[in-house]
Amino acid sequence: MSEVLIAPSLLSADFACLSEEIQSVEQAGADWLHLDVMDGVFVPNLTFGPPLIKALRPHSGLHFDVHLMMIEPERHLEAFAAAGADSITVHLEACPHLHRTLGQIRALGVRSGVALNPSSNIGDLDYVLDQLDQILVMAVNPGFGGQKFIEAVVPKISRLRDLIQSTDRSIDLAVDGGIDATTARRVKSAGANVLIAGQAIFKSSDRAASIRELRAVLALE
Ligand code: DX5
Ligand code: ZN
Repeated sequence: MSEVLIAPSLLSADFACLSEEIQSVEQAGADWLHLDVMDGVFVPNLTFGPPLIKALRPHSGLHFDVHLMMIEPERHLEAFAAAGADSITVHLEACPHLHRTLGQIRALGVRSGVALNPSSNIGDLDYVLDQLDQILVMAVNPGFGGQKFIEAVVPKISRLRDLIQSTDRSIDLAVDGGIDATTARRVKSAGANVLIAGQAIFKSSDRAASIRELRAVLALE
């Protein structure tokens, strides 16, 4: 499997100085930047939308990985693409016409992703695999940073890795929520290749050291 990518989640950054916060994780060795969009309906929290992403775009060369925790995401895909998203992930539970929505994301020239809540079944992905560039496994119930990792998702990650391998497609498998040095190793062993981490990186007093530590545990077999 290719190298594991580390994606700090901006949700745990200091919102008073976001461009500096992004530059700090970019210099610390991050691969992607994960941006959590929450609508206060699909999840009980509110964050930000396309104008903020657009304003941040010139301040970073990182891949902008936009995670839409919202109902009816298809209404806003164009705006997120225009704001500079490199990948857009929608929630399975929020998309009655998932096949169409993923096609719309790709038609905008953006990588397409589906996120699965901890309780969601992977079988719903069987018929959209040809529309997918990445799958995001939620290891917490979406809405907040700093929650406890839900162990039950580990076998789900393994099953998804098997599914991806059986199709011979190069679909990234990301895990989001409760990632730290201990859980990182377990989800990598289960087959994840993108690790999203909010508190473990942004709340650390030495972000470069935290990313190095994650890479060191990921390098262990
Ligand atoms: C939660 C978000 C996550 C969150 C992860 O709904 O999707 O991206 O920022 O935060 P940590 O790593 O602190 O659990
Ligand atoms: Zn997220």
